Amino acid sequence: MTVTIVGSQLGDEGKGALVDRWGGDADVVVRYQGGDNAGHTVVEGGEEYKLSLVPSGAVRGTIGVLGNGCVVNPRTLFEEIDGLRDRGLDPDVRVARRAHVILPYHRVLDGIEEAGKAEDESGVEVGTTGRGIGPTYEDKAGRRGIRIGDLLDPAVLRERLEYVVDHQRTIAEEVYGLDIEGSEHAAAFDVDALHEEFAAIGERLVEDEMTVNCSDFLYHRNEAGDRILFEGAQGTSIDIDHGNYPFVTSSNPTAGGAAVGSGVGVTTVGGGEVVGIVKAYLSRVGSGPLPTELDGDADEEALADEIREKGGEFGTVTGRPRRIGWLDLPMLRHASRVSGFTGVAINHVDVLAGLPELRVCVGYELDGERIETVPTTTDRWERCEPIYREFDTWSEVDWTAVAESGYDALPTATREYLEFVADEMDATVYAVGVGPDREETVEVVNPFDE
Ligand code: IMP
Repeated sequence: MTVTIVGSQLGDEGKGALVDRWGGDADVVVRYQGGDNAGHTVVEGGEEYKLSLVPSGAVRGTIGVLGNGCVVNPRTLFEEIDGLRDRGLDPDVRVARRAHVILPYHRVLDGIEEAGKAEDESGVEVGTTGRGIGPTYEDKAGRRGIRIGDLLDPAVLRERLEYVVDHQRTIAEEVYGLDIEGSEHAAAFDVDALHEEFAAIGERLVEDEMTVNCSDFLYHRNEAGDRILFEGAQGTSIDIDHGNYPFVTSSNPTAGGAAVGSGVGVTTVGGGEVVGIVKAYLSRVGSGPLPTELDGDADEEALADEIREKGGEFGTVTGRPRRIGWLDLPMLRHASRVSGFTGVAINHVDVLAGLPELRVCVGYELDGERIETVPTTTDRWERCEPIYREFDTWSEVDWTAVAESGYDALPTATREYLEFVADEMDATVYAVGVGPDREETVEVVNPFDE
């Protein structure tokens, strides 16, 4: 069977803790989109592991697969694998031969396009992670990308590099006016240097038997009765199709992406469990509207600071402080419909303890009308005024003891909050996060037991 984990908001819902917890019951953990723009913090036995590409399950010895829908930076991949080995772990990571490769020039292009947008009044700066994600997916859609399978054949690799590097060099020089020769970027556009480095990476991938035909590999694992966990990165509101375009990433974090990005049939993915991960408030790293943002006056900013500090709301990949807002139900209703959640896990409820007030946005007012889901254009979303419902707050309790005792040990006000949210999302509460450690989760349902 399969369990698919999807971010319901803007990508920082704390998916890593749940993937790690349920990944322990899985035989295979698969990432199906994105690349090293993701950031997972996994805490295991007091040790903290920060991963951006290697699937979180690798910390616990589960097979990790990077599906064909991912964009893989091999430098990051080997850095993370070697880093885990240095700490005494033995990660087993497989990479789809159909996955696309992030090359050094993709990062350069990501940076110069963002800088260009920042300078141009008509440009919309997305605030990307600068990892080359967008340019790599552009090359994929433009049918000039380099796939993991191409790294395994030096002649094919050279042929592909010669075409694409020439193309990208022209764009960098002619469109962005970059003076490549003699600059710090020269190596990123040097076909010989790229060929040498990436052909050697291909050799290591072969030696370590890391590449797979992902669809075929997972088909046989599923047929053999293995439990497969799909680990979505980022979140619904930054999905390229269903998110708030153009402030999005370039892939599909929503559940449909699990089928497309792995080669496992939609009936198999849909026949399993699909769990939406929710943070009990909102946080956003990067630009774009955030109707419930706590930035109206000094009191709101103080509240945002309190939540940010307590929740450790600083980007895992970039270290940027995250913007903070109240929970937004129109966003969550949309997420639940797009992915078809069977259950939800709501994280960070401990962070809300002891706040002077607690609100949830239950709808928006736009041009004098009440709406229940997120508008399709960013311009309309930006003009939405949140309609709030007040909730009773709850005090600090011993969250570790609560996690041990179970759901009924949660404060009454917390349970009311959680049940209201799950009901609005038409799903059941499967888990509640009450602290950063894997043990600090109140598990109501293990989706692998369903
Ligand atoms: P990109 O994915 O680097 O192209 O960035 C596009 C947008 O997605 C930016 O707003 C990023 O901040 C955001 N983003 C990308 N990955 C993540 C993530 O893992 N968590 C939260 N936001 C992300």
